[in-house]
Amino acid sequence: VPSQAKVVWEKFSSQSNFDRKMYHYGTFPEGFSWGISSSAYQIEGGWNADGKGLSIWDKFAHTHLRISNDDNGDIACDSYNKVEEDVAILKQLKVTHYRFSISWSRVLPDGTTNYINEAGLNYYHRLVDALIAANIQPHVTLYHWDLPQALQDIGGWENDTIVTKFRDYADFIFDRLGHKVKFWITINEPYNVAMIGHGYGVGAPGDFRPGTLPYVIGHNLLKAHAEAWHIYNDKYRAKQNGIISITINSDWSEPRNPYKQEDYDAAIRAIQFYIGWFAHPVYNGDYNDIMKTVIRERSLAAGLSESRLPEFTPEEVKRIKGTYDYFGFNYYTTVLTFPVDYKNLQHYDGDKGAGSTVDLTWLDSGSGWLKVTPFGFRRILNFIKEEYGNPPIIITENGISERGTVDLNDTHRSHYYEKYINQALKAYLLDGVDIRGYTAWSLMDNFEWAKGFSERFGFFYVNHSDPNISRVAKKSVSDYSKIITCNGFPH
Ligand code: NOJ
Repeated sequence: VPSQAKVVWEKFSSQSNFDRKMYHYGTFPEGFSWGISSSAYQIEGGWNADGKGLSIWDKFAHTHLRISNDDNGDIACDSYNKVEEDVAILKQLKVTHYRFSISWSRVLPDGTTNYINEAGLNYYHRLVDALIAANIQPHVTLYHWDLPQALQDIGGWENDTIVTKFRDYADFIFDRLGHKVKFWITINEPYNVAMIGHGYGVGAPGDFRPGTLPYVIGHNLLKAHAEAWHIYNDKYRAKQNGIISITINSDWSEPRNPYKQEDYDAAIRAIQFYIGWFAHPVYNGDYNDIMKTVIRERSLAAGLSESRLPEFTPEEVKRIKGTYDYFGFNYYTTVLTFPVDYKNLQHYDGDKGAGSTVDLTWLDSGSGWLKVTPFGFRRILNFIKEEYGNPPIIITENGISERGTVDLNDTHRSHYYEKYINQALKAYLLDGVDIRGYTAWSLMDNFEWAKGFSERFGFFYVNHSDPNISRVAKKSVSDYSKIITCNGFPH
């Protein structure tokens, strides 16, 4: 008798098991959006220009030994001074949408609306105006990890006053830019804000307090997202007519051994602790039962009086549920999952009771965590469809890196995009997954967080030793723009 997990898992993977075709011809629907993405700290530079306040990433990257080669984003791709250059390469790619983020402390240096830095805001006006003039739609992320340091000093995402601070910041941005911007993302990858920034401590603010803190951070991120969505919905939607959501990321988990029941159970647990942590409250209401049960049991067994996972009140569950206009989703890779019985009840990765490994035949990238696994894309898209009621999906990131010697003939990137986009096409055409847009990561090589400039995700190579910090097209630029102009893979 198959376990519940196996039944569930087969629902969204069986299609791809029967479809042996490596490649599928066809196109996405008319009006499909094709984009490319970046984020403020990773490209802008101008870290203290024109009155910008300090962010947690400025501080973190200025700390010795935090970043590979002690790189930092002080100059990065100098996008703060290169609106024209950036728009020119976007035009070359032929994208319909450009996803970028706003640096909170550039516009509100201390994080609050007490003081507005008009010069910083003006940069986004110039960028948005240039995009619209080029017929490229701006897709704006409000929070891509660079919290104003002034807010971190009073507890950051751990202090629940952040919820109203984020709402006020969002309100301010909608007020100033909302007549020009029709596509919004509240928060990028809450999972990584919680885990990288506050669990593993390898990203800003560098908190290594696993076990409880990531759940507290996640809780406030979800509430903050919901308040920003509601402000938009109540105050701006009628006149501005845009769409707004949260961007959630997740790997796909395959059972390591498809003949073992326990591996299916572990895969489902891993998924519910990853995509489910944030998607379940937003799309279905409240945390999923697997997380609630497992964390409670482990907390009590460790002698705590209550679960380390905070609880939403029934009012909060209602307020968060349904705060989406689309499912913003970042996907890169798949892992093989197996059960792990951690003896240590405080172990920070122990709650999900799942370990992961990879298949050694999967192709590598420049990032240790990223293996070329296009098949997992179709499966996780089917999971989203089944689990969250077939929401419209915009893929907000997908991409591959390289490292080491610069080679503009990046065939690995062209191969990656062709295979992944083709899997998304199968999900759309064969499985009925409601995919509305696709956004690649990233426009140009940029500051890859703790890896600095050593891992390069860009379609354009950025030459940092040239005083102009020039952008140079890699071979994949023409391959991606061919897919865009064909709207997929026509017969
Ligand atoms: C996710 C993040 O949103 C982005 O900032 C990062 O550079 C890419 N993935 C690649 O790791």
